[in-house]
Amino acid sequence: MKTVTLEEKYLKEFVGDEALKDPEDQVREAHYALHNQTGRGSGFVGWVNQPRDFDGEELEKIKKVAKKIRCNCDLFIVVGIGGSYLGAKAGIEMLTPFFPTDEPDVPEVVFAGHHLSGRYLEELLEYMEGREVAVNVISKSGTTTEPAIAFRVLKTYMEEKYGKKEAAERIVATTDKEKGALKTLAKKEGYETFVVPDDIGGRYSVLTPVGLLPMAVAGVDIDEMVKGAKSAYDHLLEESIKKNPCYRYSAYRNYFYKKGKKIELLVNFDPRLFYFGEWFKQLFGESEGKEKKGIFPASLHFTTDLHSMGQYIQEGERTLFETVLRVEDEGAELKIEKDHKNLDGLNYLAGKTFGEVNDKALEGTVEAHVEGGVPVMIIDIPKIDAYSFGYLVYFFMKACGISGYLLDVNPFDQPGVEAYKKNMFRLLGKPE
Ligand code: PA5
Repeated sequence: MKTVTLEEKYLKEFVGDEALKDPEDQVREAHYALHNQTGRGSGFVGWVNQPRDFDGEELEKIKKVAKKIRCNCDLFIVVGIGGSYLGAKAGIEMLTPFFPTDEPDVPEVVFAGHHLSGRYLEELLEYMEGREVAVNVISKSGTTTEPAIAFRVLKTYMEEKYGKKEAAERIVATTDKEKGALKTLAKKEGYETFVVPDDIGGRYSVLTPVGLLPMAVAGVDIDEMVKGAKSAYDHLLEESIKKNPCYRYSAYRNYFYKKGKKIELLVNFDPRLFYFGEWFKQLFGESEGKEKKGIFPASLHFTTDLHSMGQYIQEGERTLFETVLRVEDEGAELKIEKDHKNLDGLNYLAGKTFGEVNDKALEGTVEAHVEGGVPVMIIDIPKIDAYSFGYLVYFFMKACGISGYLLDVNPFDQPGVEAYKKNMFRLLGKPE
């Protein structure tokens, strides 16, 4: 079976042998620190061996609850923010059709609690009218303000619409096994609950019920996803940088960072990967941006952004390197037809699929950016499916853990996130 690989040929003129030789020992140490749980933040590396030890019973429970939700509702609202939002959002955007289909038992999935827009919630409440609704509220801490406020509003609506008993049957809470306001509430109201493991932090939790339940409700094959993650686990177990593409990716990132290339652009040529870029930004930004250090993770969506950011990438400050997600088979056949009048001058494309044109756009862009002084790595993905998603998220989570250790930060905490909250609570007059 074809799998995710790393293409390094466009790095030749930017890196010497030292790029992989120098960090060899450090990478090996980082590998052992992750696997033996001896590095910084070692209480939060439960995701490292998770694909090896997937809990079959829990997967069955997720599928069972997802099935019930799919039968009972046509609108499924997922409430969460950060790591309790972006993994599911990325998976659903990547793996479900662009436009609504008539497929039976697949509810529309929408998100809430990922910002503080009252207008959004008001419109959502209106949208809920006349629809059968279920809600999954997700918060590891159980106390995050944005989802907590949104859930308060949605809970009231659900109870008015269905009555307390049925509302409770339509609400699932994913949270800590014992701590937090959401856990207390869920217990009191009798909601179905799923547990976010203690040793897995939000942005590393996509392969737990945090990500898997919403994706299963949306019709994603989570068994295949788990298989993909397991393959990634097996393939990326090798401690040697030479044999481990994930570790080479981490080493190159840090090499570029040291050379002053402090911004990584994660680039895709397929709109299904838009939210994968958002998930990536959170993963690396929250994991590495600390102690006045860290690569700034950005994501761009080509060819769209070539018509906006393309100029900067080609000729702006040379502080960038690029990681391209290249999808080998987009799974579409649409061809550009010949037009005998050829008034638009496009007959040179006749007979080609959109995928073929996109491939050439990718090739041309990579060549141009390399010529313009931007090192490019390519991550090849055979096709967009649940297996690849599982593989990719594990690849990037592991790369992030190793990268963070190479940078000598704790990739599993986020102390800086508290600063805005403190101010906001003071300004809102929250009691101590
Ligand atoms: O990665 C993280 O830890 C954060 O982004 C959290 O996921 C985010 O702040 C939401 O936290 P919680 O799930 O506790 O509501």
